[in-house]
Amino acid sequence: MIISGKELAKEVKENIARKVASYKIEYGREPNLCVILVGDDPASAGYVRSKGKAAEAVGFSHTEINLPADITEHQLIDRIKELNDDDSVDGILVQLPLPKHIRKHRIIEAIDPNKDVDGFHAKNVDALWHRIPGIRACTPKGIIKLLDKAGVEIAGKHAVVIGRSNIVGFPVAKLLLDRNATVTIAHSHTEDLGQITRQADILVVAIGQPKLIKGDMVKEGAAVIDVGISRDPETGKICGDVDFDEVEPKAGVITPVPGGVGPMTIACLMENTLDCYTRKMQW
Ligand code: GUN
Repeated sequence: MIISGKELAKEVKENIARKVASYKIEYGREPNLCVILVGDDPASAGYVRSKGKAAEAVGFSHTEINLPADITEHQLIDRIKELNDDDSVDGILVQLPLPKHIRKHRIIEAIDPNKDVDGFHAKNVDALWHRIPGIRACTPKGIIKLLDKAGVEIAGKHAVVIGRSNIVGFPVAKLLLDRNATVTIAHSHTEDLGQITRQADILVVAIGQPKLIKGDMVKEGAAVIDVGISRDPETGKICGDVDFDEVEPKAGVITPVPGGVGPMTIACLMENTLDCYTRKMQW
């Protein structure tokens, strides 16, 4: 079974849109998301546009702030501080990656943790680690929703996560662990990856290597979540970290690329923005 992230994202966004309509009457304004793009990398610009479109679709107001690639770290932090202090802004997101002269962690830590819709701020990561309320990163949250939607049992299962980034690998492993899966985290230095992946009931691949996971690396009936998105070096077509044609016949459920995890990341970003807004309004 192919799990459509597109369809589930649509459901999540429709649910948000319904809530926004009633909150707007109750609180006098809609949620407001602010997205900062530094430089003009076409892929990042594309993601920022998709986030703006999703915000519009659910009834949020949104602002896209385009800053030059040669902006200093200091100037960028000052801009973020202005948004932190602006009561009409509920969510702030700085699109990654950033130019090399800007230290990513300095920028992430400058964002008010209550407006950190990405869930990347140390305070939100701390909340995830301690299992206390906080903003959870969008892609990991979306992956759990996809597994739940597909009816995949998580508790007691062996989940293998390939990748250990702060954006996906680490937090998704923690969320799976909190749902009582037994979790193995593998990465680019793991020897004999296939020997590990073949044990997985749930396999999450977030390593950014096109078609790394072949059919013989997957257990029959496994739930396979493909977070990768790149271009097949042979055909130039968009593909994931999983060789879909080889793995799909063996998998119990699998996410496609595109149309799997990607739309869920954006839907969860909308959910996080709504949460930041309601927390502020209900304070
Ligand atoms: N670049 C790639 N993924 C993400 C994400 O989830 N958030 C931000 N801010 N930048 C990204």
